[in-house]
Amino acid sequence: MNVKEAIEKRRAYRSLEPIQISEDIITSFKELVQLAPSCMNNQPWKFVFIQDKSILNQIFTTLSPGNKWVENASLMIGVLSKPEDDCIIGKRYYYLFDTGIATAYIILRATELGLVAHPIAGFNEEKAKNILKAPKDMRLITLINIGKKSININPILSESMKMGENKRPPRKSLDEISFRNQYGKN
Ligand SMILES: Cc1cc2nc3c(=O)[nH]c(=O)nc-3n(C[C@H](O)[C@H](O)[C@H](O)COP(=O)(O)O)c2cc1C
Repeated sequence: MNVKEAIEKRRAYRSLEPIQISEDIITSFKELVQLAPSCMNNQPWKFVFIQDKSILNQIFTTLSPGNKWVENASLMIGVLSKPEDDCIIGKRYYYLFDTGIATAYIILRATELGLVAHPIAGFNEEKAKNILKAPKDMRLITLINIGKKSININPILSESMKMGENKRPPRKSLDEISFRNQYGKN
């Protein structure tokens, strides 16, 4: 699978079934994020790979009500960073940008391996950080949920989420998101 194919195949599916995630896969994720670009090569990201059942169960208690589907994840990855660990140039803070690039590497690699890698923002950050024993000054930006796509649609999903399993949510038009020569001009 080439990069374009992985980007096109990637979906944030919510019907997951358990799968054994090997140590080799986790090592591959780690080695790829190590290669991601960052401002001044600051590498501001930290990733916590969570497989321990008791920790996973505690993390599940921090999820927003709409994220019950996450409880079928086989591996969760906590993605952390903080502003001071990366470039701050005037009003531009690069820690989220750079950590996002590294996170995309994990998501695309998981897709290449035939896995689902679904990032979420719907969780209680303070509670989840306490469970992960993360430093207070760090942001827990996302939890990536890794699993195998189930052929059966998860019955706990809302109607719109069920529809999303079969059809990618709509995208803005190319003219809305990209311009030629000057902002706002197509
Ligand atoms: C930063 C971020 C936060 C997200 N948070 C959630 C979430 O809390 N719950 C959820 O079900 N999906 C979440 N998603 C998934 C998006 O809803 C999904 O990517 C979007 O609807 C587009 O669908 P697609 O990824 O399948 O193309 C999140 C995605 C990102 C990148």
